[in-house]
Amino acid sequence: MAEPRVEVFDDAASLDRAAAALVGDVLRTNPAARVVPATGETPVGLYAELAARRGSGALDPTGITIVQLDEYLGLEPGDRRSLYGWMLRTVLEPLGIPDDRVVGLPTDGDVSAACVSFDRQLAADGGIDLAILGIGHNGHLGFNEPPSDATSPTRVVDLSRSTIEANANYWGRVDDVPTRAVTMGLAPLLSASTIVLLVAGERKHEIVHRTLEGPIEATVPASFLRRTSAEVTVVVDRAAWEGP
Ligand code: F6R
Repeated sequence: MAEPRVEVFDDAASLDRAAAALVGDVLRTNPAARVVPATGETPVGLYAELAARRGSGALDPTGITIVQLDEYLGLEPGDRRSLYGWMLRTVLEPLGIPDDRVVGLPTDGDVSAACVSFDRQLAADGGIDLAILGIGHNGHLGFNEPPSDATSPTRVVDLSRSTIEANANYWGRVDDVPTRAVTMGLAPLLSASTIVLLVAGERKHEIVHRTLEGPIEATVPASFLRRTSAEVTVVVDRAAWEGP
């Protein structure tokens, strides 16, 4: 179990290129990799860089399978504000991945029972090859809000106030942000072969250092990245690393 490798970059473009190189290494070895892509602000530049590499013929991501990291509950089918909708526009279409190559999280019917089947099927299929993650101000990975233990399965969660506030700009106002969601658990995520955690902006300064240097505990779910057999790289910009 190695410590996460930390790479610090001066600007967004060099961070995106470095992260794209890590993704490229995985896809060259395994063109049919099962990949979990975080949504949110931080990885947008990486997905654009991957799409540019696809355009120039430097990368062929069309054989991968995407496994969904998290999704809001209670939305109408086809709601553009769903995380699936975001992923479709920002990851699937630019990378040329058809939606029959997406393993979506359950959102209807008995979601808790379906989450158990989701984890079982994921393990039977060989788990995750690459997880591309971001971190919440509260240390969440996906929607594994604190406290979340390393053994937490895929499940229904209540979103924390900090997560709801951080996502308000996608919804217009805080009161419109869904309060419940389904998230891939830390257990299947931490079983990935390779994890790339992207961290940017001075507002992530405190949490990135708590993640890497503080106690490994459920109140900082991302701290479990230091206790996994995955090869973990934290790709961080100087603003987040050095702080305000
Ligand atoms: C997104 C997700 C979240 C984000 C995190 C950081 O699917 O699961 O864990 O990765 O909240 O979000 P940004 O990048 O918007 O700061």
